[in-house]
Amino acid sequence: MGLIGLENSNILIVGGAGFVGSNLADMLLSTTKRATITIVDNLLSSELSNVPRHSCVNFIHGSITNDSILVGIKDEFDYVFHLATYHGNQSSIKNPMADHENNTLTTLKLYERIKDFTRLKKVVYSSAGCSVARKTHAKADATTENDPIEIRQDSPYSISKIIGEFYSVYYQKQYHLPAVRARFQNVYGPGEILGAGQWRGTPATVWRNVTPTFIYKALKGIPLPLENVGQDSRDFIYIEDICTGLIGCALKGEAGDVYNLASGKETSILTLAEMINELTGNKAGFTNLPRRSWDNSGKRFGSTVKSEKYLGFRANISLKDGLEKTILWTKINLKLIDATIAKHDDKMKNENPRNL
Ligand SMILES: NC(=O)c1ccc[n+]([C@@H]2O[C@H](COP(=O)([O-])OP(=O)(O)OC[C@H]3O[C@@H](n4cnc5c(N)ncnc54)[C@H](O)[C@@H]3O)[C@@H](O)[C@H]2O)c1
Repeated sequence: MGLIGLENSNILIVGGAGFVGSNLADMLLSTTKRATITIVDNLLSSELSNVPRHSCVNFIHGSITNDSILVGIKDEFDYVFHLATYHGNQSSIKNPMADHENNTLTTLKLYERIKDFTRLKKVVYSSAGCSVARKTHAKADATTENDPIEIRQDSPYSISKIIGEFYSVYYQKQYHLPAVRARFQNVYGPGEILGAGQWRGTPATVWRNVTPTFIYKALKGIPLPLENVGQDSRDFIYIEDICTGLIGCALKGEAGDVYNLASGKETSILTLAEMINELTGNKAGFTNLPRRSWDNSGKRFGSTVKSEKYLGFRANISLKDGLEKTILWTKINLKLIDATIAKHDDKMKNENPRNL
């Protein structure tokens, strides 16, 4: 997938200091001639060190819900990538109001600001496969873009993600905002810093997602925590593939439409843990934990048929290759990761030891 079409573009990335946003900014900078990038981010779940230091990057520190920041967003952007979120499920359960402020209001206020902009070619909204996938602990079928939206959501986070989709469709229909929805499966890769940003009320502030958690613990020789003996499954997609898919949505996605960004491969958490222990040489094995009480998601993976047909998108990096790259990055950045985890030591002391 080429990047012709983004050259000379002026691009806004909301939430661009985060894991996906900072990788997207790096990819745009390294592959696109004369692109300029503005990042708006309040560093709620990210570190300033992730923002690319580059003469073509303008970083605005603050919330996209802040009116004085919104007023400064002018009709001068060709593309907007909206990646801001209140990370993640468990933090949103702990603090639904903060989730609302940073995961729902962000979308609404951004769209209200840009709805009449005339220069925009595409607005790409980052949605989540978890909001749509059928909840099953039996056999999973690939979730397609047309699957019904589950009314019983597991968290304010996933409710907010789907509200963002509703607003994307509404603003496209009502104001012709060229919004395209990208539904991600589970992204992993370099640049996801455990403990990044501010304490958000639960140990998930530190442990974020399963892949970086397993890699970090494996490198420290700690047994990997397996809930429900690792029977649940996910669709793991490498960060470079997600960024390519986001750019595909910007260049080829149809306004008003939705595309899965998935590997299309179902992997059990047990298989992931076994691969990580093997690749890191971790001999500590696993510890078994009960299922998280709120989590009914079970098994899921995404269909790639539509995004392959209409975006020409296909995830290219195998799980093994992606894990190897992520392990290498984690080893190189271990001091930084240790320091961001340590920021939360006081808060973590008061938490249930099973989460540590
Ligand atoms: N990583 C995944 O596996 C995954 C899966 C599905 C969907 N997504 C979606 O992709 C997007 C990016 O996820 P990520 O993994 O990079 O998360 P992240 O937490 O690393 O990035 C989100 C960024 O949004 C910023 N932010 C939060 N509130 C903000 C506000 N009010 N104004 C401006 N910025 C704000 C955070 O500081 C952070 O930098 C999110 O919308 C997320 O819901 C991610």
